[in-house]
Amino acid sequence: MADSNIILRTEKLVSGYGATTILHGASIAVREKRITTIIGPNGAGKSTLFRAVFGLLPAREGKIMFRGEDITGSAPRALLRRGLAYVPQGRNLFGELSVAENLELGGVSLGSLALTRQRMGAVFERFPALKLRAGAQASTLSGGEQKMLEVGRALLLEPKLLMIDEPSIGLSPKLVGDVFALLTGLRDTGVSVLMVEQNARAALAISDDALVLQQGRLALSGAASEILDHPEIGRLFLGGGLKRA
Ligand SMILES: Nc1ncnc2c1ncn2[C@@H]1O[C@H](COP(=O)(O)OP(=O)(O)O)[C@@H](O)[C@H]1O
Ligand SMILES: [Mg+2]
Repeated sequence: MADSNIILRTEKLVSGYGATTILHGASIAVREKRITTIIGPNGAGKSTLFRAVFGLLPAREGKIMFRGEDITGSAPRALLRRGLAYVPQGRNLFGELSVAENLELGGVSLGSLALTRQRMGAVFERFPALKLRAGAQASTLSGGEQKMLEVGRALLLEPKLLMIDEPSIGLSPKLVGDVFALLTGLRDTGVSVLMVEQNARAALAISDDALVLQQGRLALSGAASEILDHPEIGRLFLGGGLKRA
C-alpha cells in the first residue's frame, strides 16, 4: 500500500510481557479516514498490539510509524499530542464522577480549562445524549452511553486515529449498533478508526478494511467485505457457516 494514505504502520513489531513474547513480528498498515477492524482468536495479541502501539509496552524489535513519523518508544502522552487516542477494553470511566467531570479530566493534558470547555461543547454537539446527561454520574449511564463517553473523552484531544478495543463487549445488540454507528460517524468526519472486535461479523459489516491477527502476526488483510466472504475466515472467526447472520 502506498504510504501516502497510511496513517499507522507497524513493521515486524516484537513485544510482550516480561520474558514472554506475544507479538512475533507483526506488520500492519492502517489507512487513514477508514474503519479498520482487527479480528483473530482469543490470545492472538490484538490487545497487546494496541498497548505496544500506544507506548504502554516496549517494542523489542521493529518499528511503529504514525503519520509518517517514527513513534517507536514514544510515551502515551506524546502520542496523544500527536493525534493517537486509545480506548481500552472494558470500563474506563470514573463512575462516581459526572459525565462533564469525566470529560474535564480527559482535557487535563490540553492544559487549558477554556479550551477543554470549548472541546466539550463540540463533543456534546456530536453526542447530544451526553449533553442531556452531563450532570449524571457516569455509572448511571447505559453501557452504550458509557462507551460514548469514553469515545467523547478521547475526542477532546481531536485525535487523527482512534484505537478502540472491543467496544461492543457486554452491550445488547441494539447498543452495539449504536456504538458502531458512532464509529462510522467518526470515520465520516475524517477520523481514522482502528478497532479490535470479537463480534467480528457485525464489526466487519461497518468496516472498510480488515486485518486478521494470529499468534502475534498478521495472517491476512484486505477489504472488510472480502474477509467477511472468506470461507476459511468465516469458519474460524465468524461463528461457523457464512449463512448464519
Ligand atoms: N499483562 C499481561 N501479562 C502477561 N501476559 C499477558 C498480559 N496480558 C495478556 N497476556 C497474554 O498475552 C497473550 C495475548 O493477549 P491479548 O493481547 O490480550 O490477546 P487478544 O486481545 O488477541 O485476545 C495471551 O496469551 C495473554 O495471556
Ligand atoms: Mg483483547
